[in-house]
Amino acid sequence: MAEPAPFLYRQLADMLAGQIRQGLLAPGERLPSVRALCEAHAVSLSTAVQTYLSLEQEGWVEARPRAGYFVRVRPRGAECEPAMSRPQMVAREIAVAHLALDVVKEARRPGVVNLGAAWADPRLLPLKALAREHAELARHKPELLGVYEISAGYPELRRQVARHLQRAGCRCAPDEIIITNGCMEALALSLRAVAKSGDTIAIESPTFYGVLQAIEAAGMKALELPTHPRDGVDLDSLEQALKRRRLAACLLIPSFNNPLGSCIPLAHRERLARLLASADVPLIEDDVFGDISFQWPRLPAVKSFDRAGNVLLCSSFSKTLGPGCRLGYVAAGRYADRVEHGKLLANIATAGLPQAALANYLARGTYDRVAHRASRAYYRRSEQLRHWLLECMPAGTRVTQPQGGVVLWVELPSHVDGVALHDAALQQQLSITPGVIFSPHADYRHHLRISYGLVDDAEMQGAVRKLGVLAHDLASRRSS
Ligand SMILES: Cc1ncc(COP(=O)(O)O)c(C=O)c1O
Repeated sequence: MAEPAPFLYRQLADMLAGQIRQGLLAPGERLPSVRALCEAHAVSLSTAVQTYLSLEQEGWVEARPRAGYFVRVRPRGAECEPAMSRPQMVAREIAVAHLALDVVKEARRPGVVNLGAAWADPRLLPLKALAREHAELARHKPELLGVYEISAGYPELRRQVARHLQRAGCRCAPDEIIITNGCMEALALSLRAVAKSGDTIAIESPTFYGVLQAIEAAGMKALELPTHPRDGVDLDSLEQALKRRRLAACLLIPSFNNPLGSCIPLAHRERLARLLASADVPLIEDDVFGDISFQWPRLPAVKSFDRAGNVLLCSSFSKTLGPGCRLGYVAAGRYADRVEHGKLLANIATAGLPQAALANYLARGTYDRVAHRASRAYYRRSEQLRHWLLECMPAGTRVTQPQGGVVLWVELPSHVDGVALHDAALQQQLSITPGVIFSPHADYRHHLRISYGLVDDAEMQGAVRKLGVLAHDLASRRSS
């Protein structure tokens, strides 16, 4: 599905909107005059005017007569967002893994419109190019199938990943990179490299159920931290937690938390890296959505501020190139030897041929174009989805405004049960994910995660209308 190149004014508007989201342009700050914008970006007067008109229409900026354009004090849509989460902040064992498994299985039923899975749209993945690389190697290098690959991974892929990570601002040596079976294995190996059974891991609330399952499987406990729907984890709460109790590690999704879509702002990233390094608590940074960013180029990863080898950056190519390759990695800093050993014990090594194929693909240098095109498509879908949800769902519904990734988080009015809505939707061949599986003890009863990864605009509108009817029906049954 070829996406047309965006107009110049659109590119400029997206760039400025990104700077506003990240706080690089502060609320109330005056923007450059139209003329200054023309000069700074070598664009025509009409492009500059169109840029500001679009930003105004979208609610990012406001025009003040005879004074120019200013960043709006309350960002657009902030009044429709959920508040910061307020978990209990006690270390707890996890008991949702079985529930998560059921939900994921149901969502795969054939014929279901899938607003449930946080998957990339195959139409936006370079599948033919990847298939060509695999076929080429299968024909000319079948010997790759005749040996075990080394545990740390195919050397050329480790080198390509080290280069790849430069776009996230990270300078990693290939030696610290271990290739894994997707990001999920990267997370599991990292947890076991830095902590043991019974230890406590600090996480965002809500967080990806896969993170909860990995912590549960390792016999560890989770301490949930308050998390803001836009800015991610609350660093003051983390600082307090570090003073009060022994944390073995912190496992966060700074770039587009699943399910919130939140993004830790640039200034907080440095503080986060410093805070954890000085407490000697490793950070497992899940960056699987980092390159599906609505601000382009993407923000530097927290790891880029790490000077102590304290951050284990976990990611994969599942969201940008192809989840079926099952290729991910950990840039493990000073824990590289332990992660490599864990990999050897877990399954010896990741298959060599797909690693070699991916290395060849990355060497061609088309990754940025593919990831940027997909990010733009997801941005448009996220805006559409949010609009329709606010229009179709019962009054009082709140929706996050993702800054990247493929999911958003919905807070329903307190008389609408998210699990009941999930069940009713599934009966109508529509899958959504109930909020209960995003916390250790099924806390988010009135929440949903909705994905815009797999459905295009046309499918989405019909699906949200249907969901709205079901939600109104549940709401009226509760109040009658
Ligand atoms: C936040 C997060 N981390 C990790 C993963 C797992 O990624 P992979 O498919 O590469 O194992 C997912 C999958 O959806 C995810 O949403």
